[in-house]
Amino acid sequence: MSKTATLQIDDASFEIPVIVGSEGEKALDITRLRQQTGYITLDSGYGNTGACLSSITYIDGDAGILRYRGIDIAELCEKSTFMEVSYLLIYGHLPTAEQFLHFKERVHHHSLIHEDMKSFFTSYPGHAHPMAILSAMVCSLSVYHPKLLEPDQSPEDRDETVTRLLSKLRVLAAFAYKRSVGEAFVYTKPELDYLSNFLHMMFTTPMNEYFPDELIRKTLDVLFIVHADHEQNCSTSTVRMVGSSKANLFASLSAGICALWGPLHGGANQAVIEMLEAIQADGGNHKKYIELAKDKSSPFRLMGFGHRVYRNYDPRAQLLKTYCDKVLTHLGVSDPILDIAKALEEAALSDNYFVEKKLYPNVDFYSGIIYRALNIPTNMFTVMFALGRLPGWIAHWKEMIEDPGMKIARPRQIYTGETLQAYTPIEER
Ligand code: CMC
Repeated sequence: MSKTATLQIDDASFEIPVIVGSEGEKALDITRLRQQTGYITLDSGYGNTGACLSSITYIDGDAGILRYRGIDIAELCEKSTFMEVSYLLIYGHLPTAEQFLHFKERVHHHSLIHEDMKSFFTSYPGHAHPMAILSAMVCSLSVYHPKLLEPDQSPEDRDETVTRLLSKLRVLAAFAYKRSVGEAFVYTKPELDYLSNFLHMMFTTPMNEYFPDELIRKTLDVLFIVHADHEQNCSTSTVRMVGSSKANLFASLSAGICALWGPLHGGANQAVIEMLEAIQADGGNHKKYIELAKDKSSPFRLMGFGHRVYRNYDPRAQLLKTYCDKVLTHLGVSDPILDIAKALEEAALSDNYFVEKKLYPNVDFYSGIIYRALNIPTNMFTVMFALGRLPGWIAHWKEMIEDPGMKIARPRQIYTGETLQAYTPIEER
């Protein structure tokens, strides 16, 4: 007999089914709680709420474990590529050589955007934030593919939607960048791989055709792999929430991009660099900012520190810290804000406030320093996060849409407003 938990309310007791995941994670299945008991649960910020069953990503935040489809993130960073990891996340298994070739061909095949869309970019003011452009462009893409908007797509159409988006997001991101620096758009080259093409589109000018070297390409691979999925985070849950109304993938991803933009989520990578620059401009006194972060009367937080799930060193931050040193040495860049970041980390990790609250550097703490060394402008950092997170968003949307038991997401609330009162005409107020 499957296990249950007993809930006692006043004189009545109720049996609540217990669900155990493949890694032993335990949950109370409250799907029928309201019908059974008349009660709902309240969990502001969803810290204790499982919104779905998922076989994509496993995190053990206390042990600092992150695995995609069962494979450890460090092993994927060492041996795989972002393209292969995208396949793994979306289709659930590593591809055979033939499947991988076919996948890459399909992605490459969709790497042009409709010429009309170029005028959308030029209509934005030059200072427009590229995240605003990206989310609008992803939604705009939908109008060119009406056949792909059907809520109940065939598997072939779903694959086409997926590969189109994988291919085009990097083009849209590169064009958004080109718009912001006032340079001509550059197209993909068939002989380049996915990420080299992205960097080529970003940095090629009429004066200089840019090709990344092996270490730079590998670094971008690692950056995108560590960002590729993180189970039910704010943006992924947004994609699932929007997609649960059977909104199409373009609309769902556009919403996910907006959710990622906030400084408590993907926008933290931009906020980290702005914080480190502010500390540098203020004389480099990192200890002052540690004190400020602890001061509850100040809104200041140490950006790039803390995580809802990790109560241990974020394994992604560990990997990126290593790459940060490698890339800066390789490029001969000496960045004073890296020294400030390391001093800040050391001071925080030996400070009781951060130790007791188990606050460690997260993925965004070192990623920005790498992007800076690669000449990516600060306002593009969150766009880089979005490009990396894309296969995760797609995988979750696909997992949800293919679940025959899928339901529209519709939480409840506890109402705390006025009870019934009469309308007062305006002249009597
Ligand atoms: N600096 C100072 N204090 C902090 C910080 C921080 N960065 N993060 C958490 N705390 C404190 C917080 O004030 C609270 O203290 P108390 O218990 O005394 O009220 C305690 O630690 C728990 O924090 P919380 O806000 O309840 O934790 P949360 O799980 O709701 O928030 C977080 C997680 C990531 C939003 C938060 O740690 C934060 O704001 N960090 C800075 C922003 C950041 O780096 N975000 C990127 C996250 S990684 C990328 C991604 O996956 O999204």
